[in-house]
Amino acid sequence: MKTLRLEITEEGISKAGEIIRKGGLVAFPTETVYGLGADALNADAVRAVYAAKGRPSDNPMIVHIAEVEDVYDLATEVNESTKKLMEAFWPGPVTFVLPKKSIVPDATTGGLGTVAVRLPASETARKVIAASERPIAAPSANISGKPSPTTAEDVLEDMDGRIDAVLMGEACGVGIESTVIDCTGETPVILRPGFVTAEMVSEILGKECAIDPHLLEKPSEILDPAEGSADADFKPKSPGMKYKHYSPEARVRIVEGDPAPYKKEAEEEGIRTAVLDYKGDTGEAARRFFADLRELDRQGIELILVCAIEEKGLGFSIMNRMLKSAGYDVIN
Ligand code: TXA
Ligand code: MG
Repeated sequence: MKTLRLEITEEGISKAGEIIRKGGLVAFPTETVYGLGADALNADAVRAVYAAKGRPSDNPMIVHIAEVEDVYDLATEVNESTKKLMEAFWPGPVTFVLPKKSIVPDATTGGLGTVAVRLPASETARKVIAASERPIAAPSANISGKPSPTTAEDVLEDMDGRIDAVLMGEACGVGIESTVIDCTGETPVILRPGFVTAEMVSEILGKECAIDPHLLEKPSEILDPAEGSADADFKPKSPGMKYKHYSPEARVRIVEGDPAPYKKEAEEEGIRTAVLDYKGDTGEAARRFFADLRELDRQGIELILVCAIEEKGLGFSIMNRMLKSAGYDVIN
């Protein structure tokens, strides 16, 4: 299949909307990472997304909407706390997991009784959703297991020839995926940490926001998405959290102290090594981490030493991505 390159013009966006409405696949920018979009209400289109990504079908998708009210077409119930959070953080990098209406196909939610909904801040993203006249199911636009793409070029690296079109938009400002919050109970629970932190959620609600305990432990087993069977012991509520993720070709290791001796040692063995040190700048780390992993692969680097970031606020979310990309290999 030939993958069209669409410009961010009225014409390009309207074409993207038309392709999605007809059941095709279009990658588009959001403020977090690029998404691979399909009509969320069309099970065949959604299955084509799983196929293009090589994604296990038990890993549900986030459904993207263009207006707050659209959430009521997809969810049976939105409680008062969740309404407050929507008011505070939408449009933005937050996804709410809610009880789903039957209109949402099982293919979209991996057979779960809930649906994950996000209203993105990116104006381009919202225009594409509006143009498609559909809610758009969009996982990150990478081959399953690889780092999420934050530029149109990174999308093409994985998806050229596998999808109908890519909107050639801007680089993503946030750079890590949205915070996923389970809002089906009284207390919201963070299932995937992101730019919006548990502290920020608590501040809005004036009460505690829980964190899925699976986020605080090293998984008993990290599944390869290409194999994708269920692990009996490790069952996070967000199925995506149990799979190998964000892995470049190079080996990634997290370093808690000075990386210089480890770099020297590896280079003495003839291993092409690079260090990623964001010097504790969490905004910069979030924005650049995935793009840097891909760039270092292009340079033929074999070992990437990543300086650890303090696991506080946004730092907790970034370390979640760093640890996964390293398969929890930490030198301390
Ligand atoms: O920032 C983002 O969220 C990006 C952009 C494109 O919006 N999308 C994204 O999608 O990261 P994806 O598919 O790569 O990650 C979706 C995550 C997975 O961990 C999945 O398991 C979880 O959300 N998820 C989706 N629906 C869920 C549900 N009903 N219950 C629990 N977790 C869910
Ligand atoms: Mg993803």
